[in-house]
Amino acid sequence: MKFFIDTADLDEIQALAATGLVDGVTTNPSLIAKHGAAMADRIADICAAVPGPVSAEVTATDIEGMLAEGRALAAIADNVAVKVPLTESGLRACKTLSNEGTKVNVTLCFSAAQAILAAKAGASFISPFVGRLDDIGQNGMELIADIVEIYEQYPDFETEILVASVRHPVHVVEAARLGADVVTVPPKILKQLFQHPLTDKGLAAFLADWAASGQAPILEQLEKKNGAD
Ligand code: E4P
Repeated sequence: MKFFIDTADLDEIQALAATGLVDGVTTNPSLIAKHGAAMADRIADICAAVPGPVSAEVTATDIEGMLAEGRALAAIADNVAVKVPLTESGLRACKTLSNEGTKVNVTLCFSAAQAILAAKAGASFISPFVGRLDDIGQNGMELIADIVEIYEQYPDFETEILVASVRHPVHVVEAARLGADVVTVPPKILKQLFQHPLTDKGLAAFLADWAASGQAPILEQLEKKNGAD
């Protein structure tokens, strides 16, 4: 499963990219607005920081505007994936841009029917928003299970299922269990995935026992041993 990070915070992206665990980035107009930088500049900087796909969303809602913005965004860098909303115009733009060789991420997906349309429109990614479904009392992960099951029936569908609107680590684990292709997570949740209190406790105990043993540092021991051999 691929891990994308869902943010326009360049410092966070650069820091997390250094872990080697980040396969791409997703942004949206709200995330870009939150961080204040001009969109074209910020997308260019993110594309330079991460080799994988970087989703940049159009804000036009008509087909001509979406195509013009999509083409301009795609020209920023080879790894831009143009993001369009799951509307009729969005899917028309998806079809055209995909035919031109641009990766398209169809966003704001809330039903299996919408996901079928996105696959038929040639989307590279479909982004079902699990957290926003949970927020209104539905089960976001059931939508992921439905889309996985449907896409498996049609091996010619090349659309990757990108689980979005992730709220907690359990969403990530469930997405992996269901076989989703990608999960996009806010930086805070990616950091939470590393953590377990028993890891911290166990490491503290190992280090305390080691310090109490009086042993020389490992590298010092090995240098001595290699010198003697
Ligand atoms: C994904 O592409 C979206 O940017 C994002 O996951 C939306 O998440 P939210 O529902 O927390 O805003």
